[in-house]
Amino acid sequence: MTTADSSGYAPEWLRLREPADTAARAADLVALLPAVPAVIRDLGCGTGAMGRWLSGRLPKPQRWILHDQDQRLLKIAARSLPPGISVVTEQADVTRLGFGGTSLVTASALLDLLTEEEIQRLVKSCVDAQSPALFTLSVTGSARLTPADAADEALNTAFNDHQRRDGKLGPEAVAVTAAEFQRYGWTVHTRLSPWQLGPEHRELIDAWYRGFVAAAREEQPDLTVPEDRQITEVTVHHQDLLALP
Ligand SMILES: C[S@@+](CC[C@H](N)C(=O)[O-])C[C@H]1O[C@@H](n2cnc3c(N)ncnc32)[C@H](O)[C@@H]1O
Repeated sequence: MTTADSSGYAPEWLRLREPADTAARAADLVALLPAVPAVIRDLGCGTGAMGRWLSGRLPKPQRWILHDQDQRLLKIAARSLPPGISVVTEQADVTRLGFGGTSLVTASALLDLLTEEEIQRLVKSCVDAQSPALFTLSVTGSARLTPADAADEALNTAFNDHQRRDGKLGPEAVAVTAAEFQRYGWTVHTRLSPWQLGPEHRELIDAWYRGFVAAAREEQPDLTVPEDRQITEVTVHHQDLLALP
Protein backbone atom coordinates (compact mmCIF):
# COMPACT_ATOMS: atom_id res chain seq x y z
CA MET A 1 0.00 0.00 0.00
CA THR A 2 1.26 3.50 -0.77
CA THR A 3 0.18 6.47 1.36
CA ALA A 4 -0.16 8.88 -1.57
CA ASP A 5 0.58 8.74 -5.26
CA SER A 6 -0.09 10.84 -8.34
CA SER A 7 -3.83 10.12 -8.01
CA GLY A 8 -3.93 11.29 -4.38
CA TYR A 9 -4.18 9.67 -0.94
CA ALA A 10 -5.14 6.00 -0.86
CA PRO A 11 -8.41 5.44 1.08
CA GLU A 12 -6.86 2.23 2.49
CA TRP A 13 -3.99 4.23 4.00
CA LEU A 14 -6.41 6.75 5.57
CA ARG A 15 -8.49 3.85 7.00
CA LEU A 16 -5.39 2.15 8.39
CA ARG A 17 -4.20 5.27 10.20
CA GLU A 18 -7.63 6.32 11.54
CA PRO A 19 -7.50 4.42 14.90
CA ALA A 20 -4.03 5.85 15.65
CA ASP A 21 -5.24 9.34 14.69
CA THR A 22 -8.31 8.95 16.90
CA ALA A 23 -6.15 8.00 19.88
CA ALA A 24 -3.64 10.81 19.24
CA ARG A 25 -5.78 13.94 18.79
CA ALA A 26 -5.89 16.28 21.82
CA ALA A 27 -9.57 16.07 22.82
CA ASP A 28 -9.16 18.70 25.54
CA LEU A 29 -8.81 21.42 22.87
CA VAL A 30 -12.44 20.79 21.86
CA ALA A 31 -13.57 21.89 25.34
CA LEU A 32 -11.93 25.31 24.74
CA LEU A 33 -14.21 26.12 21.81
CA PRO A 34 -16.15 29.22 22.86
CA ALA A 35 -19.56 28.88 21.23
CA VAL A 36 -21.70 26.07 19.92
CA PRO A 37 -20.26 25.23 16.50
CA ALA A 38 -23.17 24.88 14.09
CA VAL A 39 -21.46 25.12 10.70
CA ILE A 40 -18.18 23.23 10.53
CA ARG A 41 -15.83 23.05 7.55
CA ASP A 42 -13.40 20.12 7.35
CA LEU A 43 -10.52 21.05 5.04
CA GLY A 44 -8.76 18.16 3.26
CA CYS A 45 -11.35 15.81 4.76
CA GLY A 46 -10.08 12.66 3.05
CA THR A 47 -12.56 9.89 3.90
CA GLY A 48 -14.10 12.00 6.71
CA ALA A 49 -12.07 10.84 9.73
CA MET A 50 -12.15 14.25 11.42
CA GLY A 51 -15.96 14.33 11.22
CA ARG A 52 -16.16 10.85 12.72
CA TRP A 53 -13.91 11.96 15.59
CA LEU A 54 -15.26 15.46 16.23
CA SER A 55 -18.98 15.37 15.54
CA GLY A 56 -19.74 13.21 18.62
CA ARG A 57 -17.79 15.65 20.80
CA LEU A 58 -19.88 18.68 19.77
CA PRO A 59 -23.50 19.57 20.51
CA LYS A 60 -26.09 19.21 17.73
CA PRO A 61 -27.42 20.50 15.39
CA GLN A 62 -24.34 20.44 13.17
CA ARG A 63 -23.91 21.16 9.47
CA TRP A 64 -20.63 19.83 8.05
CA ILE A 65 -19.13 21.11 4.81
CA LEU A 66 -16.46 18.64 3.73
CA HIS A 67 -13.77 19.92 1.36
CA ASP A 68 -11.12 18.02 -0.51
CA GLN A 69 -9.44 18.30 -3.88
CA ASP A 70 -10.07 14.56 -4.44
CA GLN A 71 -13.60 13.73 -5.61
CA ARG A 72 -13.07 10.01 -4.99
CA LEU A 73 -12.37 10.66 -1.27
CA LEU A 74 -15.28 13.13 -0.98
CA LYS A 75 -17.68 10.41 -2.18
CA ILE A 76 -16.48 8.05 0.56
CA ALA A 77 -16.62 10.82 3.19
CA ALA A 78 -20.16 11.86 2.25
CA ARG A 79 -21.56 8.45 3.12
CA SER A 80 -19.47 7.68 6.19
CA LEU A 81 -20.14 10.44 8.71
CA PRO A 82 -22.32 9.49 11.69
CA PRO A 83 -26.11 9.89 11.42
CA GLY A 84 -27.91 12.89 12.91
CA ILE A 85 -25.80 15.62 11.28
CA SER A 86 -26.18 17.40 7.96
CA VAL A 87 -23.32 16.81 5.49
CA VAL A 88 -22.45 18.39 2.15
CA THR A 89 -19.26 18.03 0.10
CA GLU A 90 -17.44 20.58 -2.04
CA GLN A 91 -14.42 19.81 -4.19
CA ALA A 92 -12.03 22.74 -3.78
CA ASP A 93 -8.49 23.91 -3.12
CA VAL A 94 -8.92 24.66 0.59
CA THR A 95 -6.28 27.38 0.51
CA ARG A 96 -8.48 29.47 -1.79
CA LEU A 97 -11.77 29.38 0.11
CA GLY A 98 -13.66 32.05 2.05
CA PHE A 99 -15.27 30.92 5.30
CA GLY A 100 -18.20 33.35 5.71
CA GLY A 101 -20.96 31.91 7.91
CA THR A 102 -18.65 29.24 9.36
CA SER A 103 -18.47 28.66 13.12
CA LEU A 104 -15.51 26.25 13.11
CA VAL A 105 -12.82 25.55 10.52
CA THR A 106 -11.07 22.26 11.13
CA ALA A 107 -8.56 19.94 9.47
CA SER A 108 -6.51 16.87 10.29
CA ALA A 109 -3.13 15.97 8.81
CA LEU A 110 -3.22 18.91 6.41
CA LEU A 111 -1.08 21.86 7.56
CA ASP A 112 2.29 20.20 6.88
CA LEU A 113 1.28 19.72 3.22
CA LEU A 114 0.92 23.47 2.65
CA THR A 115 3.35 26.25 1.74
CA GLU A 116 3.81 29.40 3.80
CA GLU A 117 1.79 31.42 1.30
CA GLU A 118 -1.06 28.87 1.46
CA ILE A 119 -1.03 28.96 5.28
CA GLN A 120 -1.17 32.76 5.17
CA ARG A 121 -4.24 32.66 2.90
CA LEU A 122 -5.89 30.01 5.09
CA VAL A 123 -5.30 31.97 8.30
CA LYS A 124 -6.57 35.19 6.70
CA SER A 125 -9.77 33.42 5.62
CA CYS A 126 -10.34 32.25 9.23
CA VAL A 127 -9.63 35.75 10.56
CA ASP A 128 -11.87 37.45 7.98
CA ALA A 129 -14.72 35.08 8.96
CA GLN A 130 -13.84 35.31 12.70
CA SER A 131 -14.05 31.51 12.72
CA PRO A 132 -12.07 29.52 15.31
CA ALA A 133 -9.73 26.94 13.78
CA LEU A 134 -8.84 23.47 15.07
CA PHE A 135 -6.01 21.90 13.07
CA THR A 136 -4.93 18.49 14.33
CA LEU A 137 -2.09 16.05 13.63
CA SER A 138 0.52 18.11 11.84
CA VAL A 139 3.88 16.36 11.81
CA THR A 140 6.65 18.02 13.78
CA GLY A 141 9.57 16.19 12.25
CA SER A 142 10.62 13.44 14.58
CA ALA A 143 9.93 9.73 14.69
CA ARG A 144 11.42 7.42 17.34
CA LEU A 145 11.75 3.78 16.36
CA THR A 146 12.25 0.80 18.70
CA PRO A 147 14.63 -0.93 18.51
CA ALA A 148 16.65 2.08 17.42
CA ASP A 149 19.21 1.95 14.62
CA ALA A 150 22.25 4.08 13.83
CA ALA A 151 20.52 5.07 10.55
CA ASP A 152 17.50 6.65 12.28
CA GLU A 153 18.84 10.19 12.54
CA ALA A 154 19.77 10.27 8.84
CA LEU A 155 16.39 8.74 7.96
CA ASN A 156 14.53 11.42 9.94
CA THR A 157 16.58 14.20 8.35
CA ALA A 158 16.03 12.92 4.80
CA PHE A 159 12.31 12.33 5.45
CA ASN A 160 11.92 15.90 6.78
CA ASP A 161 13.71 17.30 3.74
CA HIS A 162 11.28 15.33 1.57
CA GLN A 163 8.36 16.84 3.51
CA ARG A 164 9.70 20.32 2.67
CA ARG A 165 9.71 19.65 -1.08
CA ASP A 166 8.09 22.25 -3.39
CA GLY A 167 8.11 24.84 -0.59
CA LYS A 168 5.82 22.82 1.72
CA LEU A 169 6.29 23.66 5.39
CA GLY A 170 6.41 20.06 6.68
CA PRO A 171 7.67 20.09 10.27
CA GLU A 172 7.56 23.90 10.49
CA ALA A 173 3.82 24.13 9.68
CA VAL A 174 2.44 24.46 13.22
CA ALA A 175 4.95 27.12 14.28
CA VAL A 176 4.27 29.16 11.13
CA THR A 177 0.48 28.82 11.50
CA ALA A 178 0.60 29.78 15.19
CA ALA A 179 2.74 32.86 14.46
CA GLU A 180 0.41 33.90 11.65
CA PHE A 181 -2.71 33.73 13.88
CA GLN A 182 -0.84 35.58 16.65
CA ARG A 183 0.05 38.34 14.19
CA TYR A 184 -3.71 39.04 14.01
CA GLY A 185 -3.93 39.06 17.83
CA TRP A 186 -5.56 35.62 18.05
CA THR A 187 -5.00 33.23 20.97
CA VAL A 188 -3.30 29.97 20.03
CA HIS A 189 -3.29 26.75 22.06
CA THR A 190 -1.11 23.82 21.01
CA ARG A 191 -0.86 20.24 22.24
CA LEU A 192 1.43 17.33 21.47
CA SER A 193 -0.50 14.56 19.71
CA PRO A 194 1.94 11.74 18.93
CA TRP A 195 1.09 8.43 17.36
CA GLN A 196 2.23 5.82 19.86
CA LEU A 197 2.32 2.59 17.95
CA GLY A 198 2.99 -0.83 19.42
CA PRO A 199 2.63 -4.49 18.44
CA GLU A 200 -1.15 -4.08 18.01
CA HIS A 201 -0.43 -1.64 15.13
CA ARG A 202 1.71 -4.09 13.14
CA GLU A 203 0.11 -3.31 9.75
CA LEU A 204 0.27 0.46 10.30
CA ILE A 205 3.89 0.34 11.47
CA ASP A 206 4.88 -1.64 8.38
CA ALA A 207 3.02 0.64 5.95
CA TRP A 208 4.28 3.79 7.69
CA TYR A 209 7.90 2.54 7.69
CA ARG A 210 7.78 1.64 3.99
CA GLY A 211 6.55 5.16 3.20
CA PHE A 212 9.09 6.75 5.57
CA VAL A 213 12.03 4.92 3.95
CA ALA A 214 10.77 5.48 0.40
CA ALA A 215 10.43 9.24 0.98
CA ALA A 216 13.85 9.43 2.69
CA ARG A 217 15.46 7.50 -0.20
CA GLU A 218 13.83 9.73 -2.80
CA GLU A 219 15.58 12.59 -1.06
CA GLN A 220 18.88 10.77 -0.48
CA PRO A 221 19.21 7.75 -2.82
CA ASP A 222 22.50 6.58 -1.25
CA LEU A 223 21.04 6.34 2.26
CA THR A 224 21.96 3.08 4.00
CA VAL A 225 18.83 1.51 5.49
CA PRO A 226 18.90 -1.62 7.68
CA GLU A 227 17.56 -4.73 5.92
CA ASP A 228 14.82 -6.94 7.47
CA ARG A 229 14.18 -4.58 10.31
CA GLN A 230 11.69 -5.78 12.97
CA ILE A 231 10.28 -2.59 14.47
CA THR A 232 8.14 -3.19 17.55
CA GLU A 233 7.24 0.39 18.53
CA VAL A 234 7.15 3.78 16.83
CA THR A 235 6.39 7.25 18.15
CA VAL A 236 5.59 9.73 15.38
CA HIS A 237 5.37 13.24 16.75
CA HIS A 238 2.51 15.57 15.80
CA GLN A 239 0.98 18.75 17.15
CA ASP A 240 -2.61 20.00 17.34
CA LEU A 241 -3.43 23.70 17.20
CA LEU A 242 -6.53 25.64 18.26
CA ALA A 243 -6.75 29.32 17.26
CA LEU A 244 -9.41 31.58 18.79
CA PRO A 245 -10.33 35.19 17.94
C1 LIG B 1 -3.05 13.26 4.85
S1 LIG B 1 -4.62 13.36 4.09
C2 LIG B 1 -5.66 13.58 5.53
C3 LIG B 1 -7.11 13.23 5.28
C4 LIG B 1 -8.04 13.36 6.48
N1 LIG B 1 -8.12 14.72 6.97
C5 LIG B 1 -7.64 12.41 7.59
O1 LIG B 1 -7.22 12.90 8.64
O2 LIG B 1 -7.76 11.19 7.39
C6 LIG B 1 -4.61 15.00 3.39
C7 LIG B 1 -5.87 15.31 2.61
O3 LIG B 1 -5.85 16.69 2.23
C8 LIG B 1 -6.23 16.81 0.86
N2 LIG B 1 -5.59 18.05 0.38
C9 LIG B 1 -4.28 18.36 0.42
N3 LIG B 1 -4.08 19.62 -0.04
C10 LIG B 1 -5.30 20.10 -0.38
C11 LIG B 1 -5.76 21.34 -0.92
N4 LIG B 1 -4.91 22.35 -1.20
N5 LIG B 1 -7.09 21.50 -1.15
C12 LIG B 1 -7.95 20.47 -0.88
N6 LIG B 1 -7.58 19.28 -0.36
C13 LIG B 1 -6.27 19.11 -0.11
C14 LIG B 1 -5.76 15.51 0.21
O4 LIG B 1 -6.48 15.22 -0.97
C15 LIG B 1 -6.02 14.50 1.34
O5 LIG B 1 -7.32 13.99 1.27
